[in-house]
Amino acid sequence: MTELTAGGKRLEVLFSAEQIAERIHEISTQIKAAEMSNLLVVSVLKGSFIFVADLLRSMHAAGLSPEVEFISLSSYREGTTSSGEVKILRDVESQVAGRDVLLIDDILESGRTLAFAKDLMAARGARTVKSCVLLDKPGKRATDIHADFVGFKCPDMFVVGYGMDMAHRFRELPFVGVVKN
Ligand code: IMP
Ligand code: MG
Repeated sequence: MTELTAGGKRLEVLFSAEQIAERIHEISTQIKAAEMSNLLVVSVLKGSFIFVADLLRSMHAAGLSPEVEFISLSSYREGTTSSGEVKILRDVESQVAGRDVLLIDDILESGRTLAFAKDLMAARGARTVKSCVLLDKPGKRATDIHADFVGFKCPDMFVVGYGMDMAHRFRELPFVGVVKN
């Protein structure tokens, strides 16, 4: 295991920048093959922002031209445990009725965030709703939900980096890691 220091903390690298880039290339090929027409990508903020930025450019390289929107949902307060309740902090501006929506989030854990977002898009009349997550942590699932496109299966640990934070820190790291001390 590679260990690095960032922000005065030791971190163990779980998924390197190179591994992530390779996987994103594969996922964009899968998304292209799914042939979603009238595609609206909805980035679930905040944790997905770096993943979405890289995935979108890879989707472009694969020949896709999606519209892109953002929704900010919160199921976490400060700290590392889920509050159980999902709130819309900032909504999408586009009409989703009739669209093929691809939700993109950083992590699928309890599934509450993604289930909430999927139900919301479906209730607004999306034609289809698919989802893509960088990391799938199946260990703590509280709802019966799976993502259509998954980067990596992730062990049941609190991870940071590549957009994901611990109390708003570590988002800038180019890899996904676990804080050691
Ligand atoms: P869920 O609603 O329990 O599936 O939680 C998913 C959301 O919780 C993700 O979009 C993340 O923002 C956040 N989250 C879950 N696990 C982690 C983690 O290990 N590190 C950082 N954020 C996490
Ligand atoms: Mg999130």
